[in-house]
Amino acid sequence: MPEGMADRTYQTARHLRVAVAHLNGLPQRPEFVLCTGDLVDRGGDEEYALLADILGQLTMPFYLIPGNHDDRAAMRRAFPGHAYLAGHDGFMQYTIEAWEPRLIALDTLIPGEPGGRLCPQRLDWLHERLGEQPDRPTIIFMHHPPFRTGLTKMDNAGLEDNAGLVGIVRRHAQVEAVLAGHVHRFITRRFAGTVAMTAPGPAHQVDLNLGAEEKLSLIMEPPAGLLHLWLGGDDGLVSHVSYTGGCYQGVTVFADGQWIRDAPPLAPSIPLP
Ligand SMILES: [Fe+2]
Repeated sequence: MPEGMADRTYQTARHLRVAVAHLNGLPQRPEFVLCTGDLVDRGGDEEYALLADILGQLTMPFYLIPGNHDDRAAMRRAFPGHAYLAGHDGFMQYTIEAWEPRLIALDTLIPGEPGGRLCPQRLDWLHERLGEQPDRPTIIFMHHPPFRTGLTKMDNAGLEDNAGLVGIVRRHAQVEAVLAGHVHRFITRRFAGTVAMTAPGPAHQVDLNLGAEEKLSLIMEPPAGLLHLWLGGDDGLVSHVSYTGGCYQGVTVFADGQWIRDAPPLAPSIPLP
């Protein structure tokens, strides 16, 4: 929300601009960007207008899915050129066939609730899509992670039940990875015969609190995203954390076979534009 609590406190919009510039400036520019939900705070048109302005600066295609902070109708209004947002049976589920691997987007949104759900209707759609191209490497992306993370507060606001998804993914060996958002932290695990992971946030992160009590705190650790590289064949998909800037400046301390003795001191909190 422009000038809302999250934006004033975490400067989310300014961090997102930095992340967009980072992606545009990478020496190996990504072919496309997946935005795994919670695209805005309150789901209002004003917020999505700002989001569209910022994401419109990306020099590569990007694909959106809703998170618990999102509003499907407002997303469609803000991104009229993104025809795939029409989705299926009211859900923002779709496939993107233009790239390797194939992309399948799932919609876990329950309007008005922090947690997520994959109902039989959404799961049946996934099962049908995976059955269409069983030999083509495929990435599934969704907002709520399909596994418990150990972050108690986030798990209690997580996906209601992952059994249906586990059953389907386990039957489809072409799934290279299941990618999620929601928890603002990189977490990965073996999942239903493939790997699943969550992406760090482009602004604030969820604090690494693995206690049993339900406690949520947010922390300004270095903003980042995941950079996935498709090597194909036996080499498959590899996933890297890519720091997007706006919190700590990377400093080279070793290069050309030697340590750099006069490396400048770490400079936290470099200015945001
Ligand atoms: Fe979320």
